Amino acid sequence: MKMNSADLPNAQAVFVHDDPEILSAAVALRIAELAAEAIEARGVFHLALAGGETPRRCYEKLRHLAIDWGRVHFYFGDERCLPEGDARRNDSMAREALLDHVTLPQGNIHCIPAELGAIEAAARYARELESAGKLDLVLLGMGEDGHTASLFPDNPANTGVAAAVPVFNAPKPPAERVSLGMGTLNAARRKLFLVAGAGKREALEQILRGVALPAAQVGNAEWHLDRAALPVTNELRGKRKCK
Ligand code: 6PG
Repeated sequence: MKMNSADLPNAQAVFVHDDPEILSAAVALRIAELAAEAIEARGVFHLALAGGETPRRCYEKLRHLAIDWGRVHFYFGDERCLPEGDARRNDSMAREALLDHVTLPQGNIHCIPAELGAIEAAARYARELESAGKLDLVLLGMGEDGHTASLFPDNPANTGVAAAVPVFNAPKPPAERVSLGMGTLNAARRKLFLVAGAGKREALEQILRGVALPAAQVGNAEWHLDRAALPVTNELRGKRKCK
């Protein structure tokens, strides 16, 4: 089901799915489609992965799809400053759900070296991103407070101009993280949000009211929501229409 994109300020398109399973399957197919388009046009697909439970479900489906994996380069939207291999890192989750199940050169996996600490890791990753050029697709989750990647409301990292920025005092542990900068997120050819669960209603309500939460500052994104995430009484429900 596709909604009027005007329903969410700044969105390119909004899709509502019945539940997180259907959402994650639909997004996996969408990623495969965008991968094929990019590979056809430029021979390579630069994809930035998100952390979080909703993206994880999607990766578990994505790994079964027919994609020219050797031409996909994986990046990360954010990383937690924890030792390499720590199960709480986003790259550990991505390996377990997706990367360990597909055949590709290990050089195609561009992890954020967050074990070096936020400042050093962000500086190194910014250089790596600059040499990679524009990202084709950035996958994004949204936290209950409206954060995306590791850009949290009112955190000074949000205004950083570097391609990757150090993040301190994150309200969700661990406090120290690295995130792609807001400019990098916005510069990607495509941005896609996966947002599921009633816990996301309040942040979506605020975005509908025009509050500039970090997720709302990513322009022209494709939003994939599940029904549970829809605000109960507002325009998103009222204006929703089938396609
Ligand atoms: C992180 C994630 C974060 C996540 C959202 C949504 O490192 O914490 O990258 O930005 O994507 O919090 O997560 P859920 O899908 O689990 O709600």
